[in-house]
Amino acid sequence: MTGSFATGWMSRPQAPPVGTVLGPIDLIADGSGREFVFGAGLNAFRMLVVRQDTRVFGYVNLCPHYSLPLNVRADEFLSRDGARIMCRRHLAIFAIEDGMCIDGACVGSALDKVPLQIDAQGQVIIG
Ligand code: FES
Repeated sequence: MTGSFATGWMSRPQAPPVGTVLGPIDLIADGSGREFVFGAGLNAFRMLVVRQDTRVFGYVNLCPHYSLPLNVRADEFLSRDGARIMCRRHLAIFAIEDGMCIDGACVGSALDKVPLQIDAQGQVIIG
């Protein structure tokens, strides 16, 4: 584990363990996002994954503004040009690479990062 390994997500209810396989990278269309849900009920662990070419970026699906899910429609996580993550509640904008809020209601806050890896078989794995 490195110093940059984000761990805040781990303490959330129903968080999946490190090593959980989300599935093949092709589940996420290049330039789009997809939600993955673990558990059930109001405390289900909801995370989003954004794919850019061969890279993936994972975050807990909770906006730091009001702790609401970022999306309103299924898997709708990006700005219209696909260059940023956008919260559909009050339109805050986040950098895809580090989850920092760079415009809108929560500038200076960040999404809670969920570290991801892609293995040799192209499977996206938490951790
Ligand atoms: S809840 Fe996301 S910008 Fe307000």
